[in-house]
Amino acid sequence: MKFIVDTDPGTDDAVAILIALAHFNDDEFLAITTVAGNVTVEVGTKNALRLLEHTNRNNIPVYKGEEKPLYRELTTAEWVHGSDGLNGVDFPNPSKNEETLDAVSYIKNLLLKSDEKITICVLGPMTNIGKVLSQNPKLSSNIEQIIFMGGGAGFGNTTPVAEFNFFVDPEAVNIVLNSGVKLIMMGLDVTHQAIATKARLEDILETKTVTGKNIVGLMSSLSDIEVVRELFPDGTPVHDAFVTAYLVDNTLTNGKFVNIEIETKSELSLGQSVIDINSVTGRKKNVYWMNQVNDDKLFEIIKFASSKLP
Ligand code: BDR
Ligand code: CA
Repeated sequence: MKFIVDTDPGTDDAVAILIALAHFNDDEFLAITTVAGNVTVEVGTKNALRLLEHTNRNNIPVYKGEEKPLYRELTTAEWVHGSDGLNGVDFPNPSKNEETLDAVSYIKNLLLKSDEKITICVLGPMTNIGKVLSQNPKLSSNIEQIIFMGGGAGFGNTTPVAEFNFFVDPEAVNIVLNSGVKLIMMGLDVTHQAIATKARLEDILETKTVTGKNIVGLMSSLSDIEVVRELFPDGTPVHDAFVTAYLVDNTLTNGKFVNIEIETKSELSLGQSVIDINSVTGRKKNVYWMNQVNDDKLFEIIKFASSKLP
């Protein structure tokens, strides 16, 4: 399997990237492409480089992507992830820069030239992938699958009905949902079922690695935010970790093949994922929507990553 991680790091993005770094080698994990979302694309790109520096994986190239959504102004989430995107958790400054090529051109070239289909893990707004597929719809046949964090059935975390990644760039999501690519959705339906509880954090600290300590720092930092603590008194979800953990073990979640569309017009429900769980519309099924979770397995995968990395 060959894959790239498209991301807006982001505390939970960082955990997801560390999982991928621990479990896959440089022939499998081809690149990180960044996008504006949680933080600006400059800050997110630096964070991707910081994670590679920490893990001595500077061979993996980082391509800086789009600095704003396709048609909208950028909404960021520094109030969740901090102005540095990693809530002050101590990863080293990078000794390497990002590549000169931009993320959209890189993804396009990769899909054109690769003799194998590529898996794309999307941990942020879908701007980069949406742009690639709108400019080159035929490249969809060169994508093995897109596994993404986004959406949720009937509820959101940014508006009452919209999840953050879907809310930030709904038009990009719309392009991806209609691309014909195999899509696997890790939405709030699964991520809210796996909580980084105190016991799980302590278990990870037993690895006694800097990575373990930092992962615990990343996963516990959200609990310092009052509204988050009220919603999740026992610990917070680690949304994006699901995407790369599923690459490691696809028995992590289970779900149903359904039709999903996104609201792009209404001011009230912008970015809502409309999930036809009961097949009432007859619309073409396009997404493997995940809703069942083996939550212990997620934390086993995170602990293993903590033990394997520096
Ligand atoms: C998603 O939004 C971001 O803040 C997280 O990194 C995750 O990708 C959760 O809604
Ligand atoms: Ca993210």
